[in-house]
Amino acid sequence: MQHNRGGDPAVPTGVSTTAIGVAEARAEESARPDRLFEDPLAKAFVTAAGSPFEEIETHISDLDSIRTWFFDYVALRTRFFDDYLLESCRAGCRQVVVLAAGLDTRAFRLSWPKGVRLFELDFPEVFAFKERVLASQRVKPACQRVIVEADLRGEWTAPLLQAGFRPGEPSAWLAEGILIYLTEEENDQLLSRIGQLSTLDSQLAFEHMRREAQELMPFRLAADALAELGVSWRSSLENPNRWLSNHRWRGQVFDSANLGELYGRPVSSYGELAKGETDIGWLVRAVRESS
Ligand SMILES: C[S@@+](CC[C@H](N)C(=O)[O-])C[C@H]1O[C@@H](n2cnc3c(N)ncnc32)[C@H](O)[C@@H]1O
Repeated sequence: MQHNRGGDPAVPTGVSTTAIGVAEARAEESARPDRLFEDPLAKAFVTAAGSPFEEIETHISDLDSIRTWFFDYVALRTRFFDDYLLESCRAGCRQVVVLAAGLDTRAFRLSWPKGVRLFELDFPEVFAFKERVLASQRVKPACQRVIVEADLRGEWTAPLLQAGFRPGEPSAWLAEGILIYLTEEENDQLLSRIGQLSTLDSQLAFEHMRREAQELMPFRLAADALAELGVSWRSSLENPNRWLSNHRWRGQVFDSANLGELYGRPVSSYGELAKGETDIGWLVRAVRESS
């Protein structure tokens, strides 16, 4: 089903609608006194696009608890990946690739060391909307930001190379909020292609969900809510370490309970929804073991 919130043809639709939901979570977190990060641009995207949650609320009875869980989870994962990218760059990496960047504003809001080039990949429709909103906010990136229009299910490495990515130099990759929307085969191909472009000691981070968790009632409701927007979950991940080592990466695997402890944001806030199931999925950092 295609939606066209507010009648604006430049608002992302289909799977790209999810980027607006994540921006909404970041806007909410940014307004909290105990925020884990600040994303001053997130609200402008939601104002321009409208909330996808409003669109589905008439269809989903338990939307509030799903939204609360999702916002809490996005807050933790955003901070975790912020820290990962900054640590990678402080350790010397100067190339960052944000796959399925959506309305990610890390290029603008993080304090990058000098010389960082950050590549954002997503569909052209997403950038049509994003660049328009960014222009209205008159903001400048804090690093060299390069947008690359690409479909991650296809041949995206050529446009990335054309955009100036240097495969002989270390890179830090991020796949946040994307693997669940691709099939297992597409994810395998994605990871193979990332590997082909990664030097020894390059870095990678991503998150994914277990199949069993997807079948828990609250997440079945979440999947129903997404279906209202024409979006499906297409894969799960049972063993991140095995997947990584098959592709020659060495991983460090966390779950949201670990991050709750790390950032002092108690995981009990997920309790109502997931009934103590904290290890619903994985948040992973990895290092390339060979070039
Ligand atoms: C849940 S959003 C996550 C956005 C961003 N990573 C974040 O966490 O804020 C999913 C994003 O994946 C993008 N996406 C989905 N399938 C894609 C594909 N095949 N190629 C490129 N981008 C894709 C969507 O356009 C959307 O921006």
